[in-house]
Amino acid sequence: MTTTAKATARAGSNIAFIKYWGVADASLNLPLNNSISMTLGDLYTTTTVEWDPDGPLKADILHIDGAAAAGSKAERVSRHLDRVARLAGIDRPPARVASRNNFPMASGIASSASAFAALSVAAAAALGLHLDASALSALARKGSGSASRSLFGGYVEWERGCDDASSIAHPLQPADHWALIDLVAVVSTAEKTVSSASGHTLAHTSPLNTARIASLDRALDQVRSALATRNLAELGTTIEQDALAMHAVMMTSTPSLLYWQPATLAILQAVRRWRATEGLSVYFTIDAGPNGHLICEPAVATAVSSRLQQLDGVQAVLSSGPGAGATLIQEALF
Ligand code: DP6
Repeated sequence: MTTTAKATARAGSNIAFIKYWGVADASLNLPLNNSISMTLGDLYTTTTVEWDPDGPLKADILHIDGAAAAGSKAERVSRHLDRVARLAGIDRPPARVASRNNFPMASGIASSASAFAALSVAAAAALGLHLDASALSALARKGSGSASRSLFGGYVEWERGCDDASSIAHPLQPADHWALIDLVAVVSTAEKTVSSASGHTLAHTSPLNTARIASLDRALDQVRSALATRNLAELGTTIEQDALAMHAVMMTSTPSLLYWQPATLAILQAVRRWRATEGLSVYFTIDAGPNGHLICEPAVATAVSSRLQQLDGVQAVLSSGPGAGATLIQEALF
């Protein structure tokens, strides 16, 4: 590599309907279970990577949302760049990386999925390394498990797999199959005290983990079929159950992880009240944090959003429908 090479990619975050929680092989980031998500079209990360083989850089330089990043975040990105260079079979040059989220990083929205999907696509392209979508999904998985799903648009399943090549995501339904909305009720803007990365290694310490994993074949089937037939009641019932099962595993791990705030519970109870008393067809899921993700169809999204904004402890409501998978774009960040 003699010339400077630069590429920019964009990837949407995603919201899991059946959660990835628990790691089977930490070095390869193989999960304990398959997971299914919707790629978010309106909440995304844009990342530019420029490799600098002959230039002035002595080490990687990373900017996130305009600010220089160091410490564990920067190390995680550098380790991912190592993987890309290894795949290309080259000595690793330093790189300049800039990443920008179109949602506030402090909103508690998982940015690692969109960040590592965009980083994988941009870093490979900037090296002239041609990887198909499956190989990019496997690469992104090693940066962040959920990033393996953001390679694809619409509704996506990540196969647990048994090795590096087989633990990859694939699309289940395209984005235009069903216009579901994810309304994100932002409860806390603080960075979480226990990252998902360390939480995944604790799942097996919960006595409930085996029971959750054993229940998932059926739940995965229900979600696949509810997506195929656009059956929101079936989808919603199943995703609520799995979100609660995952949080039960978290709460009963050693040490115990308790991500909920009082407002989280208020949201869950409100959703059930709106369904029961007003017939509003809306269901919740919750990631590794206190925010509520409310899943509904566009016809009721405004009604749900205005009710959410009136709940104590809800600081903001963000909204996204399904969107495209990770892709190269022309507009570089530098
Ligand atoms: C609760 O993909 O963020 O959001 O692989 O350590 O980066 P790492 O974990 P991550 O875990 C996501 C956990 C989850 C559920 C999900 O998105 O499936």
